[in-house]
Amino acid sequence: MGTISDNIYSLQPVQISRTLPQIRDHRLFQLKLENRTGWEAFGHQPGQFVEVSIFGKGEAPISISSPPTRPDSLEICVRRTGKLTDALFELEKGSRLHIRGPYGRGFPIDVLRGKKLLLVAGGLGLAPLRSLLLYALDKRDEFDEIILMYGTNSPDNVLFKYELLSFFDRDDITYLYSVDRDEEGIWKQYVGVVTGLFDRATLSPKDTYAVLCGPPIMYRFVVEKLLKLDFPREHIYVSLERMMKCGVGKCGHCAIGDKYCCTDGPVFSYPEIETIQEAI
Ligand SMILES: Cc1cc2nc3c(=O)[nH]c(=O)nc-3n(C[C@H](O)[C@H](O)[C@H](O)COP(=O)(O)OP(=O)(O)OC[C@H]3O[C@@H](n4cnc5c(N)ncnc54)[C@H](O)[C@@H]3O)c2cc1C
Ligand code: FES
Repeated sequence: MGTISDNIYSLQPVQISRTLPQIRDHRLFQLKLENRTGWEAFGHQPGQFVEVSIFGKGEAPISISSPPTRPDSLEICVRRTGKLTDALFELEKGSRLHIRGPYGRGFPIDVLRGKKLLLVAGGLGLAPLRSLLLYALDKRDEFDEIILMYGTNSPDNVLFKYELLSFFDRDDITYLYSVDRDEEGIWKQYVGVVTGLFDRATLSPKDTYAVLCGPPIMYRFVVEKLLKLDFPREHIYVSLERMMKCGVGKCGHCAIGDKYCCTDGPVFSYPEIETIQEAI
């Protein structure tokens, strides 16, 4: 839990300091805490989420997309889907809203430190994974090789486009990306589902940890691929999404088998969920 307040339900007033359109109906919001300059005391970990709250409209769990190593602003990348997100998209720079959190169990930094990382994202799954990716890049000496595989359904739907393009100029990250379809024939990279990118990477499963974030269908195929390549089961982590209400383990809305997505997750190791049929 965060360190700003001991009350787990405590709402923090925040202001929108910047909005950055991404792709259609997706926007990055930079938030600043009222009366504070930095987010150090918020104490979030990559992979955690906040409940975003707009009075009269409701709340929704949204992943934190920025790493704790960049405390100037807290970033969330939001897809407009319904009541809360519609209201959020109506707000402008300087508008006030509230968040509570940070909540949930994030990516296991202590396990990943010193290891090779294979980050596999699909669509909006890049939003939570970006927090880990930027954390690892900011603390580059603490991690071994980093490979990012990112798949979207079409070239128009690549999130964080310019940030990702900048990875091609770096020699300390391998970035591979795919689109499912390229009807206009403009895509210069791999066309096909994200698992096809595995043929383009040299992987050493015994000392690599795979972290997955994307739609459920992607998990099924990527996990199958990883197991076929002899990745140990405990080297695979997934971030799951469920309908949530309280976000703090009280209401039971987010149950996955005997676990709560909000407090036991959203990040789970594969052995924790592989026998729960509805998990992925
Ligand atoms: C841990 C976690 C992290 C999340 N991170 C992000 C994020 O970074 N960015 C983002 O845009 N969204 C994220 N979501 C999803 C977001 O919380 C939902 O889309 C939420 O319903 C939006 O609220 P709303 O009031 O705008 O939409 P609503 O009016 O509640 O619902 C809109 C539609 O989305 C469906 N829906 C509701 N919850 C989910 C869900 N979890 N998955 C898929 N469909 C859902 C509803 O059935 C409905 O059809 C996350 C969810 C969880 C559980
Ligand atoms: S959302 Fe209430 S228990 Fe998880």
